[in-house]
Amino acid sequence: VSAARAAHDGDGPVVVAHRGACAYAPENTLAAVDKAAELGVDWVENDVQRTKDGALVVLHDDSLRRTTDVEEVFPGRAPWKVRDFTAAEIARLDAGSWFGAAHAGARVPTLEQYVARVELHHQKLLLEIKNPELYPGIERQTLDVLANQGWLDRRHVSGRLVVQSFSADSVRTVHRTRPSVRTGLLGAPAVSELPAYAEFTDQINPSYTALSLGYVSAVQAFTGPHGRPLEVFAWTVDDPAEARRTAGYGVDGIITNRPDTVREATRTE
Ligand code: G3P
Ligand code: CA
Repeated sequence: VSAARAAHDGDGPVVVAHRGACAYAPENTLAAVDKAAELGVDWVENDVQRTKDGALVVLHDDSLRRTTDVEEVFPGRAPWKVRDFTAAEIARLDAGSWFGAAHAGARVPTLEQYVARVELHHQKLLLEIKNPELYPGIERQTLDVLANQGWLDRRHVSGRLVVQSFSADSVRTVHRTRPSVRTGLLGAPAVSELPAYAEFTDQINPSYTALSLGYVSAVQAFTGPHGRPLEVFAWTVDDPAEARRTAGYGVDGIITNRPDTVREATRTE
């Protein structure tokens, strides 16, 4: 039994709230974490990047433009890249109004604030290091923040934390820096590449569009660095029929903007 399944009630895949429950609250905000908790979803996914003055913040795009009011607050600072703004500047932005008036005033959380909220709800964290090529050293820095928040103690590391990235180099760095931390590689590498990846990643996390029954079982036949079968968490599945199809492939987890819909669609008992 994989680590995810072992820690999970019921037979369906683990459900992960993508960027928080981001169909219902502005993505990657504390409100999206709260929404996931309200829906009874215990895994949340986020995206971590770095500010100009070296703080880690939770945001998906490399620009602040789509999900904040940065254009109004800082006109003339195009293209509004995260790395060109200080943490204090980013803290002034409204990261909720674009989603809906009810969410006006939501902020871009720091990683510390985000992890504290996840802890408050006793949730689990699938943390994505986003665009690591832009932020040298972000892996160690992320692990340092997690350590300071108490998230690298045995309880968290064993069952409540996975650090993932599209960059295999980044995932390898996380593994080498803190070998106890579980890791995930985003994408769908060829099966012939899996022996090399299984040295440092516990999960292979592909787009659901790239999946087949054969691929999922081929991945799960490998053993990861912690002595368990490699897991597969598929993203981003919102449609109930697609969720059922993906669950039917035997994936360990489904990452979704609509965790309530996917949980209902894939419930087996
Ligand atoms: O967790 C998987 C998924 O988040 C990867 O894609 O672009 O939403 O970060 P993206
Ligand atoms: Ca992500």
